[in-house]
Parts: sequence; structure tokens; C-alpha cells
Amino acid sequence: RNNRRVLEYHSDIERLNAPFLAIYESLIPTEEEKAKQKRLLTSLEKLVNKEWPSARLFLYGSCANSFGVSNSDIDVCLEIEDSDISKSEILLKLADMLHSDNLQNVQALTRARVPIVKLMDPDTGISCDICINNVLAVVNTKLLRDYAQIDARLRQLAFIVKHWAKKRRVNETYQGTLSSYAYVLMCIHFLQTRKPAILPCLQEMHATYTVTVDDIECAYFDRVEDLRDFGSRNIESIAQLVWAFFDYWAYRHDYANAVISVRTGSIISKRAKDWTRRIGNDRHLICIEDPFEVSHDLGRVVDKHSIKTLREEFERAAHIMQFDPDPCVKLFEPY
Ligand code: GTP
Ligand code: MG
Repeated sequence: RNNRRVLEYHSDIERLNAPFLAIYESLIPTEEEKAKQKRLLTSLEKLVNKEWPSARLFLYGSCANSFGVSNSDIDVCLEIEDSDISKSEILLKLADMLHSDNLQNVQALTRARVPIVKLMDPDTGISCDICINNVLAVVNTKLLRDYAQIDARLRQLAFIVKHWAKKRRVNETYQGTLSSYAYVLMCIHFLQTRKPAILPCLQEMHATYTVTVDDIECAYFDRVEDLRDFGSRNIESIAQLVWAFFDYWAYRHDYANAVISVRTGSIISKRAKDWTRRIGNDRHLICIEDPFEVSHDLGRVVDKHSIKTLREEFERAAHIMQFDPDPCVKLFEPY
């Protein structure tokens, strides 16, 4: 019976391309929304420059890495010369200034893992998080954006996976599930390892872009315009890729031994990274290597309860893709 299903899947799955693409299209932010984000950034920069004339603001995260769906919050990084005043003091000062400028819900979270000021702009309704000197996040934002330009299927797959993760509530790091950033890395790695490959491994190619941030050298090939045909030998459709992505994470990934690595474009072993046992709060139950901070496992937030939730959701999704008559509805049913 299973064999028959597999045969049926090959002939049926193409029906799902149009509905998946329609979901993808519906999630893309409009030009108007992008313009509003830019305007907010410019006005924030003006305000910041009154106090710190040489400081600059950068967009990072999903509003700049091309994996942002419409109505996302924006992530902003304030680049400011190291001075005598601490990050907390800068954040508190910044919060004061923003508050006097009529921005709403201004809150300084100085004790978070990544300390930020949160705010909401009443004119546009856009919410915004501002962090300080988080240059690595600006660089990994560029890496993700560069990958997205190589093959359109990456952005389509990542939008669908992120949409699924939000609806199924497995995109909540404070609950022990994965960040959006982790899901995008999972998609990139998945496309790097298709046969034939849909994405190259930019960090294994000769470097055309190099920066050193906090002693970490970030180097990769960034002339992605030259790679536009890279994936063309692989003709897998978006529906096939969504099916195979969930099938991989449900049934094929070796949770006990494997680390997925976008940096090398391959699977590496937990043993090689010494990620075989719990150290402090890092349990390494699902291992996703950060492309630049290689000692950083993006799966570190996952604990023994949330790994179960996560794997059950992967299995549910794989099962729906295989057997459900209307997967595009069922997959995204709110948890
Ligand atoms: P959504 O806001 O859910 O649309 O996605 P996002 O891509 O903006 O994700 P999120 O707000 O969780 O993270 C914002 C950015 O912070 C990411 O794109 C990364 O650049 C960076 N980031 C998030 N988590 C980590 C992490 O654990 N390590 C590092 N190095 N960077 C991270
Ligand atoms: Mg974000």
C-alpha cells in the first residue's frame, strides 16, 4: 500500500504547486509597506543623530534578509562608537529620547540575551526592536539575502516553512522551539544538499566579501548575480520540496549524531563539534550550526519537551503532505 502511495504522490504532488505559490505570494510584503519601513528608519536615524552624530542605523533580520512576510516587526541595529557609557545606559538614554518623540510602547529590555529597546510607531503601526552594535546579525542578514538571490525556490520554501511554524506555534524560542533564523538556515542547508544541488555553499567558494567581527572572520563569495543558473539542473517543484523538507525532518535526519551546517554545505557530526552532551543549558537535541559563530548551536533552546513537540509537528506535516487530500489547508491549521 505504501508503494502505491509513493507512486501516487509523484503524479499528484504537482497539483499543489499553484496553491503553495499562491500562499507564498500572499505573504510577500508590498512596496508600500517597504517604503513605510524605510521612512521609519530614516526618522529614527535623525532622532538618534541629535544625541550621537556619528551613529548609524542598519536594518537586519527578516525586513532586510528577504525572508520577511508582510506586517512583520522590524529589527534595527544601532552602530555606535564604543565609548565610556555602557550598552544599558545607551539603551535607557535611547528609550528616553524615543519616548519624548511620541513613539509608543517604548520599553528598554536591558537584561535580555540581546538587550533591546522596543517601540511602536503610531503613524505606521510598525513595531521595532533596536539593539546595539550587533554587527554579526547584520552580516548574517546579508548572507541570507545573498542566498535568496540565487534560486527563487529558497524564498518560496522558507516563507511556507515560516508560515507553517508560526501557525503551529513552533517558532517560539522562549517556549523551546526554533527561531525564524534557524528555520531559514534549515531551508538553505536542505537546498544545498539536494541532488543535484539547488544552492551552492558560498562559504566554501573563494571569498569576495570579508569582514572581521568580534574576532570572527566572516568570508564568502557574494557575487551571487553570477550564480543565477546554479540550481537549474534540478527541476524539483516547490510542492516536491515542501514534501521532501518535512519528510527529511520527520524521518531522515539523524537527531542523535548529525549537525546541519550551512558553512560547509553538508552534515557534520556532533562528535566533531563536541556537542554530544549537555553543557549548562545547551542540550544539542537538534543541531543547527550558525554559519559564522560556529560554536553556536541554534537548536540550543530546544529541551526534552520541546524536541518532542517539534518532531511531532514535522511528522504531522510530512503525513499531511503524503496523505491529505487538501494539504494546503490542513498544514497551516492553527494549533
Ligand atoms: P521574523 O521576525 O520571525 O520574521 O524573522 P527574523 O529573521 O527577523 O528573526 P528574528 O527576529 O528571530 O531574528 C532577527 C535576526 O537576528 C536574524 O535574522 C539574525 O540575523 C539574528 N539572529 C537571531 N537569532 C540569532 C542567533 O541565535 N544567533 C545569531 N548570531 N543571530 C541571530
Ligand atoms: Mg524579526
